[in-house]
Amino acid sequence: MNTPNRPSMWSGFMTTNWSILFVLLGFFVFAIIATMGYLFLQDDIHSYMNRKKMTTEDLALLNKKAEQRYAIAQAESNFDKVLNGIHLRTGLKYDANVYTVITACTSCHSAKLITQNRATRPGWESMIRWMQATQGLPDLGNKEPAILDYLAKYYAPQETGRRPNLDLAEVKWYILDLEE
Ligand code: HEC
Repeated sequence: MNTPNRPSMWSGFMTTNWSILFVLLGFFVFAIIATMGYLFLQDDIHSYMNRKKMTTEDLALLNKKAEQRYAIAQAESNFDKVLNGIHLRTGLKYDANVYTVITACTSCHSAKLITQNRATRPGWESMIRWMQATQGLPDLGNKEPAILDYLAKYYAPQETGRRPNLDLAEVKWYILDLEE
């Protein structure tokens, strides 16, 4: 009677030989793929192996070049361009504190609300308090004095006074014609 669970001597022998064959075949296929891969990529492999080793000076030079490129890109970009004392993107007067003001004051509304307004330092302070009380403006912390200085300096009330007197000699008089 055959016992299917017990492998015979013959089947054990077959298994061993087939597995040796498959392992050999596996190595063979691997060798072919590796050789073809090498033939295909040999230029890249060799240029990588023979690549120039970076010295500290080379790295420093690369760094310097990157910094120069960055500086040029910064200078060429119009994002924070300043012309005649005006920060063009926002229209605010340029000053060392302008970026503090831009950060604190242009997230909810345009900088035009600032440039269109004039107030004394207490006036600006009360506008800030009003926005804090009703519009969700957060506490400006230690940035507040610099912001108030900036606003009071550049957006102070203009003392133009009343309009100048008419220069009567310059006025062109005409007779109002009431007859139709
Ligand atoms: C949390 C949002 C927010 C921030 C940040 C903010 N504001 Fe305002 N602000 C408002 C709102 C809302 C109004 C009302 C806008 C309207 O009336 O259309 C306003 C109005 C104004 C006005 C007009 C006031 C008036 O009486 O007409 C000025 C000026 C102003 N803000 C200046 C500033 C300044 C300066 C800063 C920075 C310190 C600032 N805002 C930051 C929300 C903000």
